[in-house]
Amino acid sequence: MNRWWSVSPSLAIVKYWGKLDPERNLPATPSLAVGLDGFKTRTRAFLTDGEDLVCLNGELQNPGRFEPFFSYFRKVRGTTRGFRVETENNFPESAGLASSSSGFAAMSLACLDCLEGFPQRDPDRSLASRIALRGSASAARAVFGGFTVLYAGKNEAFQLYPSTWWPEFRIIVVTVDPGKKPLSSRKAMELTRKTSPFYTSWLKDATLLFHEASTALANRNMESLGRAAVASYSRMFATMFGANPPIHYWQPESIALIRSCQELRKRGVGAWETMDAGPQVKVFCIEKDSAVILDEFSSLNLEIEITVTKPSADPIPERE
Ligand code: DP6
Repeated sequence: MNRWWSVSPSLAIVKYWGKLDPERNLPATPSLAVGLDGFKTRTRAFLTDGEDLVCLNGELQNPGRFEPFFSYFRKVRGTTRGFRVETENNFPESAGLASSSSGFAAMSLACLDCLEGFPQRDPDRSLASRIALRGSASAARAVFGGFTVLYAGKNEAFQLYPSTWWPEFRIIVVTVDPGKKPLSSRKAMELTRKTSPFYTSWLKDATLLFHEASTALANRNMESLGRAAVASYSRMFATMFGANPPIHYWQPESIALIRSCQELRKRGVGAWETMDAGPQVKVFCIEKDSAVILDEFSSLNLEIEITVTKPSADPIPERE
């Protein structure tokens, strides 16, 4: 039997934005991330003698996006076989909810699993991370649960802490618009790298922010972690505003939510927002603060969907 793999998207606390080596898809900045429990990509794979096919939510996908992933996979695993992949998401894709991270991570685990033949030992996570990175660099992190790191210039992520590291840690995911984003993160980060005058400053500053965030996480210090997270996404967007043409993912609701977090912080409530390549807002907080944050967001009377979640555990195959 070919096992289904369930993988959660990897939400960056400190962001990867820009490539050091576009050919090998190596990131130019270090990232620190957390998996989102309850958000899932479910995937299984079959070996074929024909071309690779990926079916997402029942729809056959354009093969171009998957070619670097499969050719690297075949090279490192020394096979000429093709793959048929079935995959589905329980959350909107291409909307800034990191679906490519869970998508390529699940595909990497499922393809390794089916090549090795069940029953066998579980796929090597380091290898899965290297293969997933060829699809999406953020996917290198998503093959692990908990808190993860991908260093600049590296082709493999690792788990810094398991999901149990910080039991009170919560992530409030606010979906502002589940529609597909106008520009993929891949295209947006390349445009930023090539045209934004702020890009070099972003690179210079990224390592410092990464160290601040890692120390805060080691000490379970939400305020320091939150400050680094807010600085990271704000500076990432500053590079995008400087691109030519400028890139704008935010919507009025996104700004209302950012302001709401700022107001909450003035009142002593630790609500630390972040955003990715899309209009959705995610908020890091401690469990005891989540109810007041939810009340505050509800009082804004916006058309939004709110989910409170925690760090995801390591991805495992579903039981037969
Ligand atoms: C803003 O990993 O989707 O979510 O490697 O080109 O596929 P590619 O990019 P991708 O970019 C993620 C960007 C981000 C920040 C992050 O997850 O670190």
